[in-house]
Amino acid sequence: MDAMDAVLSRRSIRKYNKKPVSDELIKKLLDAAMSAPSAGNEQPWHFIIITDPRILSKIPTFHNHAEMLKGASLAILVCSDMNLDKHKGMWVQDCSAATENMLIAVQAQGLGAVWLGIYPREERINGLRKLLSIPEHIIPFSLISIGYPAETKPKANRYNESRIHYNKW
Ligand SMILES: Cc1cc2nc3c(=O)[nH]c(=O)nc-3n(C[C@H](O)[C@H](O)[C@H](O)COP(=O)(O)O)c2cc1C
Repeated sequence: MDAMDAVLSRRSIRKYNKKPVSDELIKKLLDAAMSAPSAGNEQPWHFIIITDPRILSKIPTFHNHAEMLKGASLAILVCSDMNLDKHKGMWVQDCSAATENMLIAVQAQGLGAVWLGIYPREERINGLRKLLSIPEHIIPFSLISIGYPAETKPKANRYNESRIHYNKW
């Protein structure tokens, strides 16, 4: 699948079958995430791979839109190391770029995923901090629920002329 097809066909997949995702494929997703651009090339990200179903099933107790994790093969938590945030506040964009890169790689590899928002919701940040023993200088940013898809969705076709402005508003 070429890059344009992966971008245009990506949708949020919340139903998964039981086929396990190989370590090799997980490494590819992480390679895609870490290939993202970042402010000053700071690469402030860390990734926590969650494969234990007991841990995955605890997350919906403090995240009210995360039920799909109970059927996911794994989830990857994208975090930022605030000791590496040299370009004040840019870490949010760095972690967003890493997250989206991973979603596109998921699509290109025949997997399915959905981006779960963590930052800036306090209860989700604190819930994950406690569950995964995350130190204070690390902020959990987004959680990506991943598995082989058990649902299909059509292309979204969101191209919208009214949101495009040339040279001035
Ligand atoms: C910042 C962000 C947070 C999101 N949080 C959740 C979430 O908590 N639970 C969920 O099921 N989907 C979540 N989504 C997925 C969106 O609902 C989804 O991307 C949107 O409805 C568009 O659908 P699509 O991804 O299929 O194109 C989130 C997406 C983004 C970008």
